[in-house]
Amino acid sequence: MLMWCTIDNLTYPELGILSWRLNADDWENDENLKKIREARGYSYMDICDVCPEKLPNYEAKLKNFFEEHLHTDEEIRYSLEGSGYFDVRDQNDQWIRVAVKKGGMIVLPAGMYHRFTLDSENYIKAMRLFVGEPVWTPYNRPHDHLPARKEYVDKIINRGGTQAVEAR
Ligand code: LAC
Ligand code: NI
Repeated sequence: MLMWCTIDNLTYPELGILSWRLNADDWENDENLKKIREARGYSYMDICDVCPEKLPNYEAKLKNFFEEHLHTDEEIRYSLEGSGYFDVRDQNDQWIRVAVKKGGMIVLPAGMYHRFTLDSENYIKAMRLFVGEPVWTPYNRPHDHLPARKEYVDKIINRGGTQAVEAR
């Protein structure tokens, strides 16, 4: 039912996902992280512990993370410790499960439907990045009328003219 990959064999560049492998043990002095942040304008940063002990309202939050949703901006996550799964939709609307482990950083484009869950370790310490003031609002599927979704569909899903006729 589900295709699997990790950020090291992410064979879906056409979906618009970006990823890097970074040195999570020394992220505070990591020039590569600095360069990515500068190049992409990721001015905002915070660190979020997702585990039953540290995240207030853990059950409810995890439930929301696992509801299929999109954002009007990129979702940028960097695992400093622990791991989790980002499930994303491919062009045919099938799930792809991307495992993100310590040192893995992933950027989901604005307008891409996705969901998140922890694995059996039940723990991730994730850096969240954003361009300017963060907006974390999830828009649960379906939210196809949002401009960010339309742009994603135009740019990524319908790219290459594989769809002869665009449904309107
Ligand atoms: C979020 C993830 C987990 O929106 O999808 O925070
Ligand atoms: Ni999200």
